[in-house]
Amino acid sequence: MSETAVVILAAGAGTRMRSKTAKVLHRVGGRTMLEHTIRAACDLAPGHVVVVVGHQREEVIPVVEQIGEQLGQDLVIAVQDEQLGTGHAAACGLSGLPDGFDGDVLLTAADVPLLNSDVLRELHNAHLATNETAVTILTFRPENPFGYGRITRDASGDVDAIVEQKDLQTGQHEINEVNSGVYAFDAAHLRSATANLNTDNAQGELYLTDVVAIARSEARHVHAVEINTLITAAKTAGAWADANVTGDMCVAGVNDRAQLSAVSRAYNDAIVASHMRAGVTIEDPATTWIEAGVTIGPDTLIYPNVQLRGTTAIGEACEIGPDTTLTNVTVGTAAVVIRTHGTDAELGAGSTIGPFAYLRPGTKLGVKGKIGTFVETKNATIGDNSKVPHLTYVGDATIGEHSNIGASSVFVNYDGITKHHTTVGSHVRTGSDTMFVAPVDVGDGAFSGAGTVIRRNVPPGALAVMAGQQRNIENWVMRYRPDSAAAKAAQAAQEKRAAESAPADE
Ligand code: UD1
Ligand code: CA
Repeated sequence: MSETAVVILAAGAGTRMRSKTAKVLHRVGGRTMLEHTIRAACDLAPGHVVVVVGHQREEVIPVVEQIGEQLGQDLVIAVQDEQLGTGHAAACGLSGLPDGFDGDVLLTAADVPLLNSDVLRELHNAHLATNETAVTILTFRPENPFGYGRITRDASGDVDAIVEQKDLQTGQHEINEVNSGVYAFDAAHLRSATANLNTDNAQGELYLTDVVAIARSEARHVHAVEINTLITAAKTAGAWADANVTGDMCVAGVNDRAQLSAVSRAYNDAIVASHMRAGVTIEDPATTWIEAGVTIGPDTLIYPNVQLRGTTAIGEACEIGPDTTLTNVTVGTAAVVIRTHGTDAELGAGSTIGPFAYLRPGTKLGVKGKIGTFVETKNATIGDNSKVPHLTYVGDATIGEHSNIGASSVFVNYDGITKHHTTVGSHVRTGSDTMFVAPVDVGDGAFSGAGTVIRRNVPPGALAVMAGQQRNIENWVMRYRPDSAAAKAAQAAQEKRAAESAPADE
């Protein structure tokens, strides 16, 4: 059998997005639409993957290169200098293939982000199953066909042509069988037909869809296969991934932000459902957003309003949320993370975080550690069983094991020019409102009194205190704030004390 190629169209302007960002670089579930499409293509392990770029290619090409590196795949980049239409883009794609390539070409578009490799494979199978077919079109029947090319059929029911929205004739608007923009082509036909396209249409573009009418005029066979037929075939073959979206969403095109939101929702629903099937309790799927690269152990409980992004990996039997966003955060078994915003952090097994914690990059919390309420951490390693319970900033610090940082403390890491490091040992107890003025070292088993500003190292076992004697100036309030509520309250309290201490018989 000859080789197969996948050609991905990603050169269009994406005008309807009204964005400074190239359309194919907008994200669905944390991945660019381009990456989704390239991954689907590469999963098939075809002989060639060609990405056609053009509009904003200075931004798109580096992304293609990066995805290729990340996936370890050779991707051919074909440049479409001017965006003359999908037919022209397909011809550019062919130019990225070896001369005389005569295998099958699976063609898809980077604005059909949820099309997966299972569907592509079944589309190719359907194409191979019908002999001498020039084109197999992947079709679907959306509730609202507006915007999609309509499939027209002749009297005997064979596909005649694809008519674009703007070129529809009276009576054709109601046709709800539409073109997904994904096809399997015989390469030779695609090559000759794209050379014969014209711009005689409402948009003045070279339409790829006209390849269908050209095939018919050459008495070649055109085949149309519906998405649901392919999904059934994939399921029968046991090759339907758990997190795949169903039916129409698989082939939904993204041309504007409303469609972007709809496919993002569908994609998320599929991911969330696959985690639930794998043993994760998700209290409110509608407000739980989980990206594709995230892993979650069984018996973990996710409360409402949780976003898990990037490479976040949650262990077994954790409790996450409510109201928590974790990006690239590793969470150990049975940890509890409540109302927390965290990025690039590692949280040990059995640790507790929040409510209201802000974990910045480089936070590492040990087993059974605690980062509590209104605590911000950055580039901080906090050892096993150590606790930072309340109202504290820990920046650029290493804290040993079994230590406790008193409420309202600050690791003063910045002198206005550079950042400095603080080291706190194990079994340390620091008083509330301790300032650790870095660089400074607090030895194992050391203590500090409340309100201490630690500027010098504290040796192991020492108590650091800097409190001077407290001085009370008697009756200051009555003298300097006469007639104030405070003065009246103080006066009353003094009289009450005097009465209570007076002998009972007087
Ligand atoms: C296209 C199809 C339509 C189909 C729909 C499915 C044509 C003429 N129409 O319409 O039948 O129902 O997709 O989603 O093909 N592109 C280029 N270079 C260009 C123009 C476009 O690479 O010169 C790329 C775009 O980046 C995009 C894809 O081709 O990824 C489709 O282009 P778009 O303009 O979005 O076509 P639709 O109007 O959606
Ligand atoms: Ca489109």
